[in-house]
Amino acid sequence: MVQSLAIINCGQVVTVAGPKRPRIGVELQELSVINDAGVLVRDGIISRVSPSDEIESLLDANTTLVDAGGRVLLPGFVDAHAHPVFAGTRVAEFEERAAGATYQEISARGGGIQSTVNRTREASLDELVTAGRRYAQWFLRTGTTTVEAKSGYGLSLQDEIKILRAIKRLGVETPLRYVPTFLGAHSVPPEYRGRRDAYVALLIEEMIPRVAEEKLAEYCDVFCEERVFSTDESWKILSAARCHGLGLRMHADQLTLSGGAKLAAELGTVTADHLEQTDDDGIRALAAAGVQPILLPGSVYALGSSHYPAARAMIEAGLAVVLATDFNPGSSPTPSMPMILSLACTHMKMSPQEAISACTINAAYSLNRGDQIGSIEEGKIADLVIHDCNDYRELCYFFGLESPWQVYTRGLAVVGAALRGRPPS
Ligand code: NIG
Ligand code: FE
Repeated sequence: MVQSLAIINCGQVVTVAGPKRPRIGVELQELSVINDAGVLVRDGIISRVSPSDEIESLLDANTTLVDAGGRVLLPGFVDAHAHPVFAGTRVAEFEERAAGATYQEISARGGGIQSTVNRTREASLDELVTAGRRYAQWFLRTGTTTVEAKSGYGLSLQDEIKILRAIKRLGVETPLRYVPTFLGAHSVPPEYRGRRDAYVALLIEEMIPRVAEEKLAEYCDVFCEERVFSTDESWKILSAARCHGLGLRMHADQLTLSGGAKLAAELGTVTADHLEQTDDDGIRALAAAGVQPILLPGSVYALGSSHYPAARAMIEAGLAVVLATDFNPGSSPTPSMPMILSLACTHMKMSPQEAISACTINAAYSLNRGDQIGSIEEGKIADLVIHDCNDYRELCYFFGLESPWQVYTRGLAVVGAALRGRPPS
């Protein structure tokens, strides 16, 4: 029996429909909004997007009917850069930073990423899945239906594989869609201090081949940064990953202008992420190579900086900009895409339309899923969110709110006021 879902009486359906490729330049402004409309979903796939009365004429006895009451329907957010599997928190370091310590100082004395690595190594697979389930709920509650998930808090063959297996289980056991990325090159672990070449060799000769062979990741990422992985090391690691069939992503120019964007362009990576310090040359290089920039204002904000990436220059240069949370326990402890929308509009001067395109359709293309998710179009997967507002710009304008009224993945209701035991307002 075909299961159908009809959502009617949406004040706005923000379809983000358009060309079958990422949006650039003025295209980012075009959200293809349909007023007073609805959608019909059959077996988890969007089968019709049209005025509400047309949808109502197509209903049958197996259709679940949802009246959105004038609220706004959007595609689920696609979070294309996150670190959602880790043990513990870094609340003590957060308190130290509130008292004036910097992220780099804490990291230099063995805190930072290494403190999460210590906790994550001690955790079992089950414990990581339990922690990850809680975060999966947070993503869904804030309107995200797909998340890219990086490993990177294991830094040994066995612990990196444990994290990637936790990601795989979360993808099966929760309604959130996960896209796994191997980030064994997140930091050089202390047991390799003074012999970093041996860690790079371990990554290239053992970890990447194993991860690729077991199909535990679709992408490989490297934290290319002064005192982390140099551009030479990053080149070696990413070239090896490419030989094993992994797509390439890169943490580039986050804390210093260290040649990351230029290397991403040279390698033709799919994305270059962060880019807070990237200059005009770097932006030109990314544009020429067609690399998608993933901008992460949550980490700028949470590190107490005001040095946001140059989103306007990137849009003007024709880059297919993406926005993501960078959810992680150190530099960006937020899973909330609405928070990122607020930061992007307020501090990076992106328009609400550009910001929404960046975290839906452009993000989907950066994960090689632009043909399946990221917009409300016939034939796409019904990952849909009814937000409790009347104008989609409210998502960028109000901040600190959980705006979703109901969230669907593959046409099934997964969180929402009704499921939390409250009647919809
Ligand atoms: O994207 N830049 C490197 N990695 C993360 C931070 C991870 C952490 O502090 O735990 C980031 O900001
Ligand atoms: Fe990151």
